[in-house]
Amino acid sequence: MKIRTFSKYGEWGRKRIQHLYQRLFHKENVPHHEYGLGENDWERSYESGKWDFLNRPEQLAHYSVIIGYITYYKHHGAVLDVGCGEGILLGRMCSCSYSRYVGIDVSETAIDKALEKKAEKCNFVKTSIQDYKCEEKFDVIVLNEVLYYLENPLQILQHCEAFLKDDGILIVSMYCSEETSELWKKIESVYAPLDETRISNRLNTSWVCKVYRSSNGQYSISAERSQ
Ligand SMILES: C[S@@+](CC[C@H](N)C(=O)[O-])C[C@H]1O[C@@H](n2cnc3c(N)ncnc32)[C@H](O)[C@@H]1O
Repeated sequence: MKIRTFSKYGEWGRKRIQHLYQRLFHKENVPHHEYGLGENDWERSYESGKWDFLNRPEQLAHYSVIIGYITYYKHHGAVLDVGCGEGILLGRMCSCSYSRYVGIDVSETAIDKALEKKAEKCNFVKTSIQDYKCEEKFDVIVLNEVLYYLENPLQILQHCEAFLKDDGILIVSMYCSEETSELWKKIESVYAPLDETRISNRLNTSWVCKVYRSSNGQYSISAERSQ
């Protein structure tokens, strides 16, 4: 069947084909991201084991880069992990590299698994980032492979800043796709990266991981540019 045939399905069809291609030929569970997935969708996907692949060694690099950035910029800082899933990031961190860790996720199944890893100085909360409230301020807020699932991702980043110290940092990791490169452009209409790293694995999946200063910090570009 010629690819041209799919053109009647427009942009949606093209993305589905690209996704299927990646799954077939890179033989990896490439997440097809849909905005506005509800709590029940996340629940079902964790129950079905869909995210178990995140524990595999091919996924190690983006967790390692995030941990490297935390250690470099905010060694022994307080970390908020937004959309922490089953707590893989925490499981890979040395407890000496953080003074406090809070993981939040909308999926109860994920949080139950994360709680098995719970250690001193750590807490996991079942909540959406949109509903999350706390008085505590963090040195680091991590959004590891979660931002592209959220509606209004730029607003979510700005909402996260309510929990960030003035000199705190945001760390965002997203796997590479056309959609995420558009999203990076949006983010960078407001935030200037302090640093970034591109990662590829043997299956040719790539990620970009970037560090941003709080927009209260001196490295940010004016929020007016996002209008
Ligand atoms: C692809 S998984 C990544 C999990 C984890 N960050 C990791 O890399 O191991 C995306 C996670 O975001 C969570 N999530 C989705 N929407 C959310 C929201 N609005 N608030 C909090 N967590 C959310 C999902 O339940 C899921 O655990």
